[in-house]
Amino acid sequence: MRVLVLLVSLIGFVLAETSPEIVPIPGGISGTGITTRYWDCCKPSCAWTYHTNQAKAVTTCSIDGVTPVADNVQSGCDEADKGQAFTCNNNQPWVINSTLSYGFVAASFTGGYDVKHCCHCVLLNFQGKLAGKSLLGLITNTGDPLAHNQFDIEIPGGGVGVYPYGCHAQWGADAVNGWGEAYGGVSSREQCSQLPGSLQPGCNWRWDFMNGVSNPDVKFYQVKCPKELLDIAQCQRDDE
Ligand SMILES: *[C@@H]1O[C@H](CO)[C@@H](O)[C@H](O)[C@H]1NC(C)=O
Repeated sequence: MRVLVLLVSLIGFVLAETSPEIVPIPGGISGTGITTRYWDCCKPSCAWTYHTNQAKAVTTCSIDGVTPVADNVQSGCDEADKGQAFTCNNNQPWVINSTLSYGFVAASFTGGYDVKHCCHCVLLNFQGKLAGKSLLGLITNTGDPLAHNQFDIEIPGGGVGVYPYGCHAQWGADAVNGWGEAYGGVSSREQCSQLPGSLQPGCNWRWDFMNGVSNPDVKFYQVKCPKELLDIAQCQRDDE
């Protein structure tokens, strides 16, 4: 009997999904927004200390996508300067449980370039076909093409957008379109095989976790950044 109880609780433990604590920030940013996706291999805006007034900027990597480089290294998307700072491979999204993933996003709350929320985190609750699923994202980037309350989710194979040079320099992706189309990226899970092996899990995530749903709307609110995301971005705001 006791063995049975032990066995049942063991199976329950194995099957139970993890539910990390999500801590809202009182008075933080919140609202409704839109999403897009990208992976341009560039050094993101929040990786420049002098742009963001952060105590510690977002970590970027050398051309191997793994080895961290200093904050002042030029972006790998700067073709003229042959920059050597690229997006770290571990900035791709991953599944926490069947309804929650962690990842990294570019964001704007004003429309356009908006570094005010670098290294803050938001819980993006997907709407429509993906209702019930969420992405908890750490903000590493912003930029001119972004609209008010737009979240551009870092997804390998999600499109290189306006900066095709980075993934070309780093991985030999097409110099104009990257992988798939410049806007939107690859169009099937099978096409994720075009990406380097280290980036394929994050590419597959778009079909596995997001069911291939493109650019869902979101309701969002600011939350405390989980340690797992901070450990990767290694950023620190100077007001916190
Ligand atoms: C996943 O984790 C979140 C955050 O703790 C929780 O709200 C949600 O219910 C979990 N999902 C499942 C299916 O357990």
